Amino acid sequence: MSSQNVFIPTLDQAQTITAQYGSPVFVTDKQTIVDRVQTFKKSFSKQTKIFYAVKANFNPHVLSVLKEAGVDGIDTVSPYEIALAKQCGFAPTQIIFTGNASSDQELKEVMQHEVLCNIGSISELERFGRLFNGADVSLRLNPGVGDGENQNVITGGQDSKFGIIQRDMPIAKALLSKYNLQLKGIHCHIGSGFYETDVFAKAVYLILEQAATFANLDFIDFGGGFGVRYQRSKDPINLPSFGNAIVDMVKNFEARNGKPIEIRFEPGKYLVSEATCLLSSITTRKSTEEKDFVCIDTGFHHLIRPALYGSTHEIINLSKTVGKKERVTVVGNVCESTDVFADNIELIDPNEGDLVAILSAGAYGASMSSVYNLRPYAAEVIVDGDAIALTRAPQSFDLMFKGLGFTQL
Ligand SMILES: Cc1ncc(COP(=O)(O)O)c(C=O)c1O
Repeated sequence: MSSQNVFIPTLDQAQTITAQYGSPVFVTDKQTIVDRVQTFKKSFSKQTKIFYAVKANFNPHVLSVLKEAGVDGIDTVSPYEIALAKQCGFAPTQIIFTGNASSDQELKEVMQHEVLCNIGSISELERFGRLFNGADVSLRLNPGVGDGENQNVITGGQDSKFGIIQRDMPIAKALLSKYNLQLKGIHCHIGSGFYETDVFAKAVYLILEQAATFANLDFIDFGGGFGVRYQRSKDPINLPSFGNAIVDMVKNFEARNGKPIEIRFEPGKYLVSEATCLLSSITTRKSTEEKDFVCIDTGFHHLIRPALYGSTHEIINLSKTVGKKERVTVVGNVCESTDVFADNIELIDPNEGDLVAILSAGAYGASMSSVYNLRPYAAEVIVDGDAIALTRAPQSFDLMFKGLGFTQL
């Protein structure tokens, strides 16, 4: 399979999977994930490390594929993500914790895990210092610029809650020294789903300028955010151009620094999004004077990105390759008007019982799922050539309800 493919199962595969595990179901292609890791590694210099942002997809089987494919570590945002990364074989030194609004309790749990805390606010740095005098730490900076596929996922700039802004750096430095904290790394993450190098390169420049004011850093981490194709008609991101855009800046930094520095990235969606589609069945057709609806047996409880961010995941009718193309609105089965996957798109002759594939659903799909309307999580499988392996079982009412933890009546 080409390293640029967006994964779509064959109709045969899809029918076999849904016959066995039901519909809806997330289907992930192992090879696509392996290809993305390899492309990422080739696009940046040798001393670059990949710390996969596990929030994108925390299926342990996906983590295992990523580990085998060569990711170096895991970027986490909660103590449970740390526990999972450890369970999947990552050592504490291969894990970074970038919390936000972390409580003392959360910071203590992270430190018990012996994982490096990446702190993104002055108030948390002060608390961290009081709690862990002399500890190693990393700082998340806000470079003052941000980029991403829409306003909701931009995490840099003056409107963002994330990171320490340049104005506050003297205070951060004073706190490091007051509490004898050992600064190991400088970090930023400007947003999710960017495609052009200019804002990214600007952020890298600004972060390197800040990093140059510290001695003895172990690493500089430029976060994730590399864009993917939610539509196959879109060109794939030119990842090597990101490597080229920063290579000289990093070399200049190293010359000033007097030694090489480890560069880290934290891609989430780039590594896993295009490897997975959400298979679903058409249950209902209906129309108003204005719209033709195709209603499917999944909803924003399984893939919230369209409802939350206005994302436009391509949807295809796997059951039909020929037939009349119809202009339709694809909606889910959640009792909410915002449960719309795509408005005014073309599908080939969509009928009840047809299988549709919602593409590039591998990041922030299953991991953002809920059991709203008391519908269970969707099952998940990984395909590896002809082999199909169940990685998350369909849930009975009893199993799902037990997991909610309500006490006995
Ligand atoms: C700190 C941090 N690093 C990395 C990522 C991964 O972003 P993406 O999945 O867009 O690559 C995120 C996503 O929100 C993040 O908050």
